[in-house]
Amino acid sequence: MSLRRTLGTCYYPEHWPEEVWAEDARRMADLGLTWVRIGEFAWSRLEPRPGRFDWGWMDRAFETLGGAGLKIVLGTPTATPPRWMLERHPDMLAHDAEGRPRGFGSRRHYCFSHAGYRAEAARIAEELAKRYGRHPALGAWQTDNEYGCHDTVISHSPAARAAFRDWLAQKYQSTDALNRAWGNVFWSMEYESFDEIDLPNLTVTEPNPSHALDFRRFSSDQVARWNAAQVEAIRRHSDAPISHNYMGRIVEFDHFALGAQMEIATWDSYPLGFLEDRLEEPPEHKRRYARQGDPDFQAFHHDLYRAVASRFDAEAPRWWVMEQQPGPVNWAPHNPAPLPGMVRFWTWEAFAHGAECVSYFRWRQAPFAQEQYHAGLLRPDSAEAPAFAEARQVADELAEMPEVGLGQARVALVFDYTSAWAWTVQPQGRGCDYFRLVFEVYRGLRKLGLSVDILPPDTDSLAGYRLVLVPGLVTLSEPLKRALGETTAQVLLGPRTNAKTAALATPVPLPPAIPGLDATVARVETLRPDMPVPMERAGHVTLWREELEGTAEVVDRDAQGRPVAMRAGNLTYLGGWPDPDFLRHLLIRACAEAGVETLDLPPDIRVRQAGDTRFVFNHGPEEVVFEGRTIPPAGVAW
Ligand code: GAL
Repeated sequence: MSLRRTLGTCYYPEHWPEEVWAEDARRMADLGLTWVRIGEFAWSRLEPRPGRFDWGWMDRAFETLGGAGLKIVLGTPTATPPRWMLERHPDMLAHDAEGRPRGFGSRRHYCFSHAGYRAEAARIAEELAKRYGRHPALGAWQTDNEYGCHDTVISHSPAARAAFRDWLAQKYQSTDALNRAWGNVFWSMEYESFDEIDLPNLTVTEPNPSHALDFRRFSSDQVARWNAAQVEAIRRHSDAPISHNYMGRIVEFDHFALGAQMEIATWDSYPLGFLEDRLEEPPEHKRRYARQGDPDFQAFHHDLYRAVASRFDAEAPRWWVMEQQPGPVNWAPHNPAPLPGMVRFWTWEAFAHGAECVSYFRWRQAPFAQEQYHAGLLRPDSAEAPAFAEARQVADELAEMPEVGLGQARVALVFDYTSAWAWTVQPQGRGCDYFRLVFEVYRGLRKLGLSVDILPPDTDSLAGYRLVLVPGLVTLSEPLKRALGETTAQVLLGPRTNAKTAALATPVPLPPAIPGLDATVARVETLRPDMPVPMERAGHVTLWREELEGTAEVVDRDAQGRPVAMRAGNLTYLGGWPDPDFLRHLLIRACAEAGVETLDLPPDIRVRQAGDTRFVFNHGPEEVVFEGRTIPPAGVAW
């Protein structure tokens, strides 16, 4: 498979006088942009009063942008219901864990479970689709904006409580079945009617973890249902592909479920903001990468959303960066400017991972409201901001660059949203977080020069992979169990893999209960960050430690001689959270056994194999000599 790569931008015609639209459109086209996304927050201008539409300006925006040769991505404006919507549906607001409604005056204030608002959202999506669904300038749709951003998946509203009770009744059919599944005999928590069941907030101490996990499953299902309502409304009037823009490290809903609904998966990549506000790395790391972003965070999400897109089309997954950071943002604890060259760098990094389009957020910096300090391609006075020239450079390079393929990687890493919820509900120790564990394994693989495919948890074939990693996947699905039984790849499972039943109970026989691998987790302890356990050969186990028993071969021990990793055939079970040195040792050995070549990369260098082309990225602030080539800071070589 090979790809044509394109560029785009996010534009808000409603923010600017109409006189400037034509010049903006001309400049976008001159810059070499293909796509322009509009409309996703414009509800108060599209429907100023309930049922009274003002299409004129949007019609003219379509004419102007389309007339310049741009293809439009039209967003449904449902992340920003206008103030009048609250008059119609006063109870549509999401509620926080303290039970307080979240207020109007920003965005994403709705509850996914509110049926009335869901119908309103489907209605505006349908109105837009009727009007623009077959417009020649329409290239694609975007539903809503960034589900889950600003902590908005989980709502403790009355609407959520009623919908949760229904969901439970559907799932369990009887409270006896629910009481058994949750173990409600413990602490006299048994229910006689579904109407007695509240949301798992405001309890005195922790709620039953099975209750909490079901609430998270329910909350995720509500997002999928919400999105499906818009997708169906749009498809009645339009054949254009539909997308949604996901975010970084948002795990509160199952993105694979949404991926199956829509042709294109996109995500919003803000490398500097993410480094500051959603990584646990130490201050030295944040300082070193403050102007470049974490070396692996973007790549991880590129690979993740390629996997999400493959839910719709496994052969040719379509995924984009819908919003690319173009300069300082406004929302992280610190908002430095990127090193010169990083905007080009991030764009090429996305292309190297298979992106079809990288679209810059936003065209022009806004001189009013919340995001005044957020850079664009243009300054508020319409002069070019630094990112403009970098986007132009990419456009010129794309014109020269032959199409590049996207092959299957030889290494696969399984990622599972339900496991993220299970770890959150029952972490057992501070810092024990599923995303963090999987991301650390991903980083370890990348530091060895490996390109990685991320796979969903119900993967039923591992054909073509030589090394498969399944860390922390709390309940193995039947298809994945079968695939693991069939594969000849080296497989590394654990810690905490297959540790629980789907209801979050402890299974007997005890975990991990992998057929053919006689290793049992006899006891679990979690460790303070200042009590890592040294290994016999390299590094430490930190945070999560399992005591292993059984007859399988012990391939790693700690310094006291206790088993830490056990193997039978191609399956290895790891009973602890590895620090970077122990992880490196494990991965190098697994790669050697799998016949996968590793590289000894300088710390700031990452590589990505895309078909026959190998891209080399220098994430550091200094130049690096790699394989005889000097790669400057923010440098990309191929
Ligand atoms: C995204 C969002 C945009 C804008 C941007 C600022 O999360 O989708 O609307 O707010 O962040 O970085």
